[in-house]
Amino acid sequence: MYKSRISGLGHFLPPSSVSNQDLCMLMDTSDEWIQERTGIKSRRWVDSNNITSSSQMGYQASLKAIENSGINKSDIDHILFATISPDHYFPGNGVLVQDLLGLDTIGATDIRNACSGFIYALSVANAYVQTGQYENILVIGSELQSPVLDKTTNGRDLSVIFGDGAGAAIISRSNNTSEIFSTHLHSEGKNALELSMKGPSAIHWVDKLERNQISPENFAPQMNGTLVFKNAIVRFEQVINEALNKNKMSSRDIGCLIPHQANLRISQFVQKKLGLRDNQVFNNIQKYGNTTGASIPIALSEAVEQGHVKRGDIVCLAAFGAGFTWGSALLRY
Ligand code: COA
Repeated sequence: MYKSRISGLGHFLPPSSVSNQDLCMLMDTSDEWIQERTGIKSRRWVDSNNITSSSQMGYQASLKAIENSGINKSDIDHILFATISPDHYFPGNGVLVQDLLGLDTIGATDIRNACSGFIYALSVANAYVQTGQYENILVIGSELQSPVLDKTTNGRDLSVIFGDGAGAAIISRSNNTSEIFSTHLHSEGKNALELSMKGPSAIHWVDKLERNQISPENFAPQMNGTLVFKNAIVRFEQVINEALNKNKMSSRDIGCLIPHQANLRISQFVQKKLGLRDNQVFNNIQKYGNTTGASIPIALSEAVEQGHVKRGDIVCLAAFGAGFTWGSALLRY
């Protein structure tokens, strides 16, 4: 078995920042409510006059990750793209980035595990590198969510939370002390529709909407916020402890916890339960909102850029989201 590590990171955020005050012009909400319940002050939403795509944002993040890893892009031998907001119904975004990077005929895989998507993709990349099948894998998490959000008062519980952005990592064979120790994945399909967007899909198709056979809500995200919150706080703690126990570590060994940026209150609750100090947890949801599959690679990339995570630090990544799915990864950066 080989060891794998994160050799480079990059992220891309659309320039257009939307504050809580801006949202008050669109719906009945307030800066106070949003900050108190979610911790979010602003989010990035792509400019509707200058719309981009999740593959384009993923491509921009990938260029930075490749540069930071020190490899040549031709060294990449596989792509894993995690998104729930792909450019097309099919094909997936992986092949679009493969083409944008001009990477000949290497394989590309798409992963649709929402907020846990990056951890799931990292887990697959880790296994590929450990078995020797590939040496340098590009793992992307990218989401363009703002166009499908219901920005009226009707959709305010969801639309104030979500943002757009992309992050990417290069997972390489490791010849030094940097190492992904383990990954841990879980799901609970009985809650599949508690956080979901049903259409457009093969059974929720546009003509059914036009013939009034299904309602427009099927084409917007729906969330049982209280149930998501209650499950998230339990599963985050469980899956982080699972990673620590597997590697005979305790929460004191964590140099930096990067939780999926779902809601600041969830991160703070988990921090408290694990007894972590403020400087052991990195949050940037205040600026970017919840960017679903992109939130962990954006946060990790930013934590490294800002010096919160350095080479040799023990880092724990953890996510919970639609599916329900959840997972963690423990690594030495
Ligand atoms: N602005 C103002 N008021 C709002 C609002 C908004 N954006 N969204 C909802 N409200 C109102 C509700 O209509 C409700 O009003 P009512 O009491 O008159 O019926 C009230 O605020 C409380 O709503 P509730 O849903 O109970 O609030 P909450 O404290 O549970 O917070 C969430 C709502 C969504 C912030 C919270 O449930 C949450 O964070 N859930 C997890 C979300 C998450 O992490 N999702 C991503 C998973 S990866």
